[in-house]
Amino acid sequence: MKKHDVKGLDISLMRPFIEGLLKNMEGGVFTIDLDKRILSFNKAAEWITGYCLEDVLGQPCRDIFKSNICDDSCPFDKAIKKGVPINISEAIITSKEGYQIVTSRSTFGLKDVHGNLQGVAVIFRDKTEVTNLRQQLLQSEKLAVMGQLAAGVAHEINNPINGIVTYIHLLLKKLEQNDVDPETWKKNLRLVERETVRIGRLVKNLLNFSRKSTPDLRAVSLDRLIERTLPLLQDQFLLKHIKVTKQYDSDLPDILGDVNQLQQVVLNLILNAVQAVSEQGEIKISLYAEGTKGSECFVHLDIADNGVGIPEEAMNKIFDPFYTTKTGEQGGVGLGLSIVNQIMKAHHGRLKIKSEVNKGTTVSVRLPTV
Ligand SMILES: Nc1ncnc2c1ncn2[C@@H]1O[C@H](COP(=O)(O)OP(=O)(O)O)[C@@H](O)[C@H]1O
Ligand SMILES: [Mg+2]
Repeated sequence: MKKHDVKGLDISLMRPFIEGLLKNMEGGVFTIDLDKRILSFNKAAEWITGYCLEDVLGQPCRDIFKSNICDDSCPFDKAIKKGVPINISEAIITSKEGYQIVTSRSTFGLKDVHGNLQGVAVIFRDKTEVTNLRQQLLQSEKLAVMGQLAAGVAHEINNPINGIVTYIHLLLKKLEQNDVDPETWKKNLRLVERETVRIGRLVKNLLNFSRKSTPDLRAVSLDRLIERTLPLLQDQFLLKHIKVTKQYDSDLPDILGDVNQLQQVVLNLILNAVQAVSEQGEIKISLYAEGTKGSECFVHLDIADNGVGIPEEAMNKIFDPFYTTKTGEQGGVGLGLSIVNQIMKAHHGRLKIKSEVNKGTTVSVRLPTV
């Protein structure tokens, strides 16, 4: 007879069950031994901290997290001493890139079958990420873009409608004149059909755009996605005589993402670069993986331009919805970066911008591998 444990789960499935659980959960989890060295580190812990598993294995946890709670009140000591779970509503840790991240965490002792404490497990969350709010914001931004698009859309729909009305008038006149030549009728009705289909397509695109956008995550090859996106921008490159250079690592691992949303990110960022450079500008697109071959944890995409740059004082405004410095012909709506930011968060990605006025801007995107 099979041995069962948690709610009837076959005990031989426990290991894959726990591994799957750890890999797919949204919360960061790590374990440490009694010397406070890191023993395990799940995917979400990588997303939150920016460290790969191989960076942290065997390292003292205080060296990695450089947290405010390490000094005065190490929760592991408490968990070890008291043997009860310790919840901390706010612990500030430092990411690999040096950012401070506010986390909430719970800590509990890990005992072996004899009841001896072997280590401590920590479950933690990035408190700055409030998923629901984030999705609402993304949605309202989309509606705002639709508002901006309304004038253009009205124009697009008006043209085929004018066509349809003209052909119908024509046919009515023919009826009055008893002209029932089937060929002319067929020709005109086909035109009516074509214009109606055009309106249908337009409406479908709009619906797609406004639809709620929880990402549909699957394995995506970023280099292929970029190669598919660049042709859409070819006109803009030619018009401004922009030199585009590419540097991709070979055999890049796939990342976990929604193809449409990621394409929106790439389009927005490259368009910003195009708009920032003058004639003969340069845009460099680089893709590289982080981590040892075969167990990479992130893929990085850098888009560097030699354009106007962003002044220091504007840096904290550029992600605000409707913030734009673009006027006249290239007039922006100021939603690009805020949408990019939301999409990145939904993908557990990070975005970093380095810029120097009159020298150029590099936008760096980091996305977790599958
Ligand atoms: N690559 C870049 N170089 C210079 N400025 C940039 C770049 N990317 C973004 N910006 C600045 O950030 C602002 C906001 O960008 P975005 O949200 O995409 O809106 P928009 O492009 O519609 O203005 C831009 O108006 C511009 O001032
Ligand atoms: Mg833009």
